[in-house]
Amino acid sequence: MFEKLFGKKSAHEKTDIERRFNLIGRVGQGSMSRVWKATDLKTGNKVAVKVLDKEKTARFESRFKGLSKPSEGEIAVSLKHPCITVTNEFGWTTEDEMFLVMEFVEGVSLSLLVDLQNDEMKRFRLRYMIQIGEALNYLHQQNWIHRDICPRNVMISDDKSVKLIDFGLVVPNLPEFRRPGNRTGTASYMAPELIKRQTTDQRLDIFSYAVTCFEMYTKRFPWDAAMTIDAVLQHINKPPAEITELLPGIDAQIAAAIMKGLRANPDDRWSNAAEMVAEFREAEVRLVKLAREAAAKRKGAAAPPAGQPKAAIELPPAAPARPEAGTPPEADSKNERGKPTKPGKRPLKKGRKRRRPDDDIDLTAMFAD
Ligand SMILES: Nc1ncnc2c1ncn2[C@@H]1O[C@H](COP(=O)(O)OP(=O)(O)OP(=O)(O)O)[C@@H](O)[C@H]1O
Ligand SMILES: [Mg+2]
Repeated sequence: MFEKLFGKKSAHEKTDIERRFNLIGRVGQGSMSRVWKATDLKTGNKVAVKVLDKEKTARFESRFKGLSKPSEGEIAVSLKHPCITVTNEFGWTTEDEMFLVMEFVEGVSLSLLVDLQNDEMKRFRLRYMIQIGEALNYLHQQNWIHRDICPRNVMISDDKSVKLIDFGLVVPNLPEFRRPGNRTGTASYMAPELIKRQTTDQRLDIFSYAVTCFEMYTKRFPWDAAMTIDAVLQHINKPPAEITELLPGIDAQIAAAIMKGLRANPDDRWSNAAEMVAEFREAEVRLVKLAREAAAKRKGAAAPPAGQPKAAIELPPAAPARPEAGTPPEADSKNERGKPTKPGKRPLKKGRKRRRPDDDIDLTAMFAD
């Protein structure tokens, strides 16, 4: 697929998108596009139609003149992964703008959840991190570099799964695209080698992924927020904030995995997304086990064998939208840190149902892909 995309130029047939689609309403204004929720009058499907800004896209593509870089549409259509939004087709409007027709994701932007830090976020973030990592690993295996991994480009669908949405800055993982100079991306997520105009590779995405994970736990960047590349340059030589200091209750394995992704020298980072995801998965299995044991203990059932660590997390008090698909939240502050609870019944708050130990734990349902 990767090879097939090179040198191939699609016919420039133009589409009147107002005739082809019932444009129901704008859902997004990206920096490079306008996005509508629409009904595809050809198929009857509910879709998202993304129309790329002609000038900005041309400016971006002009960086790669003579390299036959595939377009966003060609790249997006080629991607097939459960955590990547399906793009069914692309074409050109009567104004000669490229448009993409995607499945419409009912859900919210991960950036909103980062800001909210609500129960849903605390409860599912590890699972989201794993799924973002899986999508990134797939993208890397297909020989692309994403170059704009950040919460803004991740949607969380209503069924609590990740959908990566934006492939506007993706480049092929080939030497001619890894040369210094192309500093596109989002300032606060940019790897030092990119900012310093050094040769880059897929590990720049590992850095952005680690910044994203850091934010998912702390709501802040590892360095002070930066609006410009120059501002990033000023602080990137300092070490990042230590996640365990900001969040003493965070699981040590998760914290270490995130911090390793933030190392300034790419050789010191995870060499691929799969390695980082493996750490998160391992931590999750352990945390789920501890949560089960804590729940069993609360119910007065058999306690974990002597010598085993005490549960570091507690099951969440409120029932989720889809209890079977959840993962227990991790401790993320001192007062939320899991403490061994006494067996026996705690009084239930009004209107709450008593939960079974496995109400929100189902490892097989969590990673169906
Ligand atoms: N398939 C989709 N389903 C639902 N909403 C979508 C979909 N694709 C995009 N959106 C909405 O449109 C917004 C902009 O999309 P996208 O990130 O692809 O555009 P962009 O112009 O490349 O953005 P930017 O450069 O600012 O990251 C998203 O944040 C999201 O709210
Ligand atoms: Mg975007």
